[in-house]
Amino acid sequence: MHTPPVVVAPDLTLSAAAKVLDDNKVGAAAVLDGAGEVIGMVSERDLLHSVGIGHDPHTDSVEQVMAREPFTVNADDSVESALDVFRTHRFRHVPVLDGGHVVGILSIRHLVRVAHIEEVKPAGAAGAAELAPRGLEGVAVAETAVGDVRGEEGFFHYRGYDATELARRCSFEQVWHLLMLGELPTDEQLRAFRRRTVAYRALPEGIAGLLPAVAVLPDYTPLGALRSAVSLTAAAMGTQPTLDITAEQILEDALRMDALVPVLLMRLHRHHQGLPPVEPDPELGYAANYLKMLTGQTPDPVKARAVEQYLILTMDHGFNASTFTARVITSTGSDMGSALTGAIGALAGPLHGGAPSRALAMLDAIGTPDRAEEYLRREIGAGQRLMGFGHRVYKTDDPRSTLLREVAGEVGGDQVEFAKHVEATALRVLNELKPGRRLYTNVEFYAGVVMNSAGIPRDMFTPTFACSRTVGWTAAIAEQAANNRLIRPSALYVGPAAPRPLPDGYGISPAG
Ligand code: ACO
Repeated sequence: MHTPPVVVAPDLTLSAAAKVLDDNKVGAAAVLDGAGEVIGMVSERDLLHSVGIGHDPHTDSVEQVMAREPFTVNADDSVESALDVFRTHRFRHVPVLDGGHVVGILSIRHLVRVAHIEEVKPAGAAGAAELAPRGLEGVAVAETAVGDVRGEEGFFHYRGYDATELARRCSFEQVWHLLMLGELPTDEQLRAFRRRTVAYRALPEGIAGLLPAVAVLPDYTPLGALRSAVSLTAAAMGTQPTLDITAEQILEDALRMDALVPVLLMRLHRHHQGLPPVEPDPELGYAANYLKMLTGQTPDPVKARAVEQYLILTMDHGFNASTFTARVITSTGSDMGSALTGAIGALAGPLHGGAPSRALAMLDAIGTPDRAEEYLRREIGAGQRLMGFGHRVYKTDDPRSTLLREVAGEVGGDQVEFAKHVEATALRVLNELKPGRRLYTNVEFYAGVVMNSAGIPRDMFTPTFACSRTVGWTAAIAEQAANNRLIRPSALYVGPAAPRPLPDGYGISPAG
C-alpha cells in the first residue's frame, strides 16, 4: 500500500486536491472529516470528470465530487481478500484501516505486484460445472479481433483504433470497411467499397410489396417491424447456413444486410406514417442517405455529420448482449438472417438499447432546471433507475457520452444546456444516494439529445442504433463463423432433488 496515506479535507477546492495528488504522485486520496474518519475517496478521474461536467475547480470542493462511504480493507487482511474486493467492485484505490484509522491507500497495482497468478481450474472430475457470476460479468467467453472495451480506462476501440478518434476523423464507410474487411481503406478501396455497398441498398425481389403490411400490424413498433423485415429479407435473399458457405459468401450477406437494414427501417417508418417511401440516394453516404430516406430532403451537413458520428460510435461495443446473441446463433451454424433477427430482439430490451428515448422522456418529465434535483432524488428513492446512467463495463466516463456531449453542443438546440444541468445533478445525486456504485453517464443520455436535434423521431432512436450496430453484429457473425465451436454452456440445477418419484397412481388413466 501507499503509506503514509495521502488525505484531503472535504472542503478543499478541486484544484488544490489535484495539486495534492500531483505532489504526492498518487492517483487517489482518502477524504477525512474533522474527527479523522474516512468519509470518501477522490481520484484523478473524479477530478477530471467533475471539470468535464461543469464544476469550477477553483470554487467547488472535494465533497461535491468524491465517492462517498468508500469500501475499506483492514491492514491485516490477506492479499487474496483484498484482491477479491478489487475484483468484485472494480475499484482502483481503497483506503486501508488499522484500529479505525486510515494508515495507507491500496491500489490494484500494489496487489498485482505481489499476488500469485493462479491456474484456472477445469470443471470438476465428474463434469460438475462452476457457476459463472450472475450476468456473466467479467467472464471472457470468446476471442475477438473486432474490438474491445476497457471499462476501467473509459476506452474502446475497433481493431485497435480508438473508436472516438475514428468518429472524430472518419466517415461511416471508412469505419465500416475497417470492421468488415479488417483494415482502413485506401482511397481506391474506399471508392470500390462505396460502389459495392450503394448497390447493396437495392431490396431483394418481393420485399417492397410486403413492407406496407408489416408497417400496419397492430401494436407496431419500429424495432419489432424491423426485426420482422430483416427476417423476411433474409428469406428473400436465401441466406444460407454459415456452416455451409465460404467466408466470401458470408461477407457478401453481411454487407448486403448492413446496407439494407436502414433502407428497410425507413420504408417501414414512411409506410407507417402513410407516406411514400424515399428511394436511397446513390450520391449520398450512409448517414446523409439515412436522413434523406427519413424526410425526403437532403439533410443539413452539420446534422448529417452529427448522426454519422453517433452511428460510428455505436457500431460495436465488445461482447454486449446483442453481439453475444448473434454469436450464439451463429455458433449453431445458422444463417446471417437468423443471427441478426435474434440480435435485434436482444437490443430491444430497455437495459440494452432501449434507453435513449427514455432518457429524453426523463428530460421532458423534469421540464425545468429547478425541478431536476427533486425529481431525480424521488426516482432513485423509489428504486427507479435513471435512464442514460450506469454501465456494466464502464466504471468511469463512457467515452461515447463524452464525445456525444460535444456533438450535441455542435448541433445546438435549446435542450443541450438543460441536459447538461440534469446530467450534473444526476451524477451528484447518484454519488450521494448510490455511493460506491460508480454510476456515470452512458452513451444513451446524449444520444437522445443528438438524434432529437438532427430531426430523428423519438421512436426511431433505438432502431437507428440497430442500423449502426448491424455492422458490429455482422463483423462478429463473420468472426464466429470463421472459427466456430457450438456455444453450449450448462446451468446449475437448483430445483427439488432428482430423481423424484411420481405420486402414487399419477399418470394417464388406462384406456376405457
Ligand atoms: N440509476 C440508479 N441506480 C442505478 C442505475 C441507474 N441508472 N444503474 C445501476 N444502478 C444501481 C443499482 O440500483 C444497483 O444498486 P444497489 O447496489 O443498491 O442494488 C447498483 O447500481 C448496481 O446495479 P446493477 O444492476 O448490478 O448494474 P448492472 O451492471 O447490472 O446494470 C445497466 C447496468 C443495466 C446499464 C444499469 O446501469 C441500468 O439499468 N441503467 C439504466 C438503463 C440504461 O441507461 N441503459 C442503457 C445502457 S448503455 C447500452 O446498452 C448501449
